[in-house]
Amino acid sequence: MIMCGITGYTGVNQAGPILLEGLKRLEYRGYDSAGIAIQSRNEADDMYSIKMLKATGKVSHLVDKFEAEPDFKGVCGIGHTRWATHGIPSDTNAHPHLSADGKFAVVHNGIIENFAEIRSELQKYGIEFKSETDTEVIVQLLAYNYNGNFKKALMKTISRLTGSYAIGVISAEHPGTIFAAKLSSPLLIGVGIGENYFASDITALVSNTKNVIDMDDGEVAEITPDEVKVYDHAGNEIKKEIRQINWDIAAAEKSGYEHFMMKEIMEQPQALKATIEPRIKDEEIVFGEIKDLDMSKFNRVHITACGSAYHAGCVGRGIIEALCRMPVEAEVASELRYRDPIMDGKTLVIVISQSGETADTIAAMKECKEKGATVLAIVNVVGSSIAKLADYCIYTWAGPEIAVATTKGYTTQVAVLAMFAVWAAGQLKTISHGAYASMVIDIMRLPERAQRALDLNSRVKKLADKYYDNQSLFFIGRNMDYAVALEGSLKLKEISYLHSEAYAAGELKHGTIALIEPGRLVVALCCYEKLFDKTVSNIQQVKARGARVLAVAHEGNRSIFQEADDVLLVPQTDPLLAPVIEIIPMQLFAYYVAEKNGCDIDKPKNLAKSVTVE
Ligand code: M6R
Repeated sequence: MIMCGITGYTGVNQAGPILLEGLKRLEYRGYDSAGIAIQSRNEADDMYSIKMLKATGKVSHLVDKFEAEPDFKGVCGIGHTRWATHGIPSDTNAHPHLSADGKFAVVHNGIIENFAEIRSELQKYGIEFKSETDTEVIVQLLAYNYNGNFKKALMKTISRLTGSYAIGVISAEHPGTIFAAKLSSPLLIGVGIGENYFASDITALVSNTKNVIDMDDGEVAEITPDEVKVYDHAGNEIKKEIRQINWDIAAAEKSGYEHFMMKEIMEQPQALKATIEPRIKDEEIVFGEIKDLDMSKFNRVHITACGSAYHAGCVGRGIIEALCRMPVEAEVASELRYRDPIMDGKTLVIVISQSGETADTIAAMKECKEKGATVLAIVNVVGSSIAKLADYCIYTWAGPEIAVATTKGYTTQVAVLAMFAVWAAGQLKTISHGAYASMVIDIMRLPERAQRALDLNSRVKKLADKYYDNQSLFFIGRNMDYAVALEGSLKLKEISYLHSEAYAAGELKHGTIALIEPGRLVVALCCYEKLFDKTVSNIQQVKARGARVLAVAHEGNRSIFQEADDVLLVPQTDPLLAPVIEIIPMQLFAYYVAEKNGCDIDKPKNLAKSVTVE
């Protein structure tokens, strides 16, 4: 399943509450049903069976079912939150899935592409399927392959699967043992003392342990309370490093804010600090992770990503082109992957992803690598697939981002792109010493300026109260402001469900201006001062047709007050860096408009945090 979450526990404590807690932490990913399975011991004969609980809807429904079942006891189990792909959301289609003989249970993230073929093969042997899911074939095939050796049966089973998976499996015949395996879907093992865990996401582990093993594609883990063994695709035991997570549970919780989105908006000054400070030494930008990247090898840069990460890429295109004087293209990954793009060993491809797991971005980067390009990834989640697949990786170090709508993820991506551009321009000698020094100073001041932009909070809330019932809005801007318009518009539409579009301000007159009517709200981004007068004439054009204009401009800009109905002034910075600051009131605006409209801000409908299928 795509945006699902999986978790598992084996130890000495009751697994039920631990699994349910893990599933609650995975809720942010978006899901429509949930379930858990445990190995349950029968006192009379000391035999084990598998017990399951499933519920359509929220994890809280599953919790209610669990509380009504006092006999649901066991110290080893697996859990799942499902986002329906194959088959409607229902208790039957919810995971875990059980083999027909009741001996095995599985939870699965991903998609088994050849499930139909395996299913009809097994049906010929008389095996009956209960659900409409692709996942059920895993557990039925496993039971079919089982000959007393759990590991062998699992290795044989996964060798038949094509597509993507992160799975956790338990057996009634192997108390205390969980097997977990991965291909193109995230999976981590949590290492404790006398108890061990697995999960698709760090947030499900962090309150229990900070020691994790990052699983790689093709690997299988055998997890018991006292030991974690990892095998390669051939079944040979391999040594894996245990990594310490430096996130604490407070970082993954709301810390008193009503929504993760607001917490993450407010965290931006700190997040930017974490991104920037360790990389500036003696007024120079130092990127340890790309120190051997020779920019003179390249004659062009291609940036690719999805959604907001693509919008960060649009800002990055402007900064890299301006400073490195090199042609830069930015393109959404879902298009690039199928376009047979022209690139070679002289192309540097920059892929951007908060989660590091976005399927289209992964496919695009693989395509570029095959064409000989060098891939540099800008990623937040450490150890994620994109980070591992790239030739070079710069982490944004923004900390966990839980809300579906990205905020600190986006601003830290732009900060990394800006630092990269200055670093690369320094290497290529396309920037003067003075300009380099001044950019470094402005980059270092981003956290403080972001903090000042956040001071607009109550003013933005008032503007949201004024404009929240506009059913259709336009965001306009030129150059860097246009890139910010794209992100401001996406932020608003994804959490408030209002129709909103971003336009390069000069394009309005070529069609869209027909949609401007009295009362329509136009948000005008006006921080790119070189083209301020041009944007002002677009403001005048929409005002002449009755639009109301909310403008965002730099502090000290007095003339904007004569043009717009409402003005938000943000701290002045270098025009190439302005997007980091200018987007902040737009994030707040989207938040308050969504709140006023009664929307589920952290989990907007139809969306998920990490889009791990096409
Ligand atoms: O994890 P990624 O940065 O690769 O995700 C890309 C997009 O799915 C993501 O930015 C999406 O557009 C956000 N919901 C926007 O807030």
